[in-house]
Amino acid sequence: MLYMLDTADLEAIRHCNEFYPLAGVTTNPSIISKQKTDFWPLVEEIRAIIGPDKMLHVQTTQKQADGIVAEAKLLKERLGGNFYIKIPICEEGLKATMMLKEAGIPVTMTAIFTPAQALIAAKAGADFVAPYVNRLDNILSDGVSVVDDIVQLFNAHGIKTRVLAASFKNAEQVHKCALCGCHSVTITGDIMKTLISHPMVDTALANFDKDWKRAYGDKKILDF
Ligand code: G3P
Repeated sequence: MLYMLDTADLEAIRHCNEFYPLAGVTTNPSIISKQKTDFWPLVEEIRAIIGPDKMLHVQTTQKQADGIVAEAKLLKERLGGNFYIKIPICEEGLKATMMLKEAGIPVTMTAIFTPAQALIAAKAGADFVAPYVNRLDNILSDGVSVVDDIVQLFNAHGIKTRVLAASFKNAEQVHKCALCGCHSVTITGDIMKTLISHPMVDTALANFDKDWKRAYGDKKILDF
């Protein structure tokens, strides 16, 4: 399981990069525009924070295959490292994906809502497909079961494309994706923290501290 951060908030990225086993960062036009700042300094700073080895997924703003390919090449050239171009599923996007395979630039096909879309994206050469879990839940569909179907479909057809589940409202959705064998998720910093939080941890730590202090006061192991 790979955990990525779905944000362009630099503080959240710095924090999660330091404290969590972060595999990369994903963005989209809505996420970028939320920061209300210039595009290049923002994405270059994200790359500087996570370094060249972690994945950085940036979404195209173009609609035609030639434009998508041009944008992907420019982004790859300027951001370097482990870079993925995110392309929404559509005919031009599929064409661009096939062209980018030739050019050696990895693709994450995004805005996936059905297993059929995911399968065609994979056949076009997408390295990741990104189904939107919570947006499906919001329309009385079942986001986790769509993720589950895609995972089963890829396994049944021996497809190497990985599932990058996205659009989460809570940690339960994320964990259910993990249970069905989903390869990766992209989540907010808040959900990342919720995944490791439990009230019993706080109680256990408080008791350890109390017992130690009763015996040794403020001394630490390093002080003996
Ligand atoms: O990056 C796409 C996906 O994460 C969108 O999430 O929360 O806007 O539905 P959300």
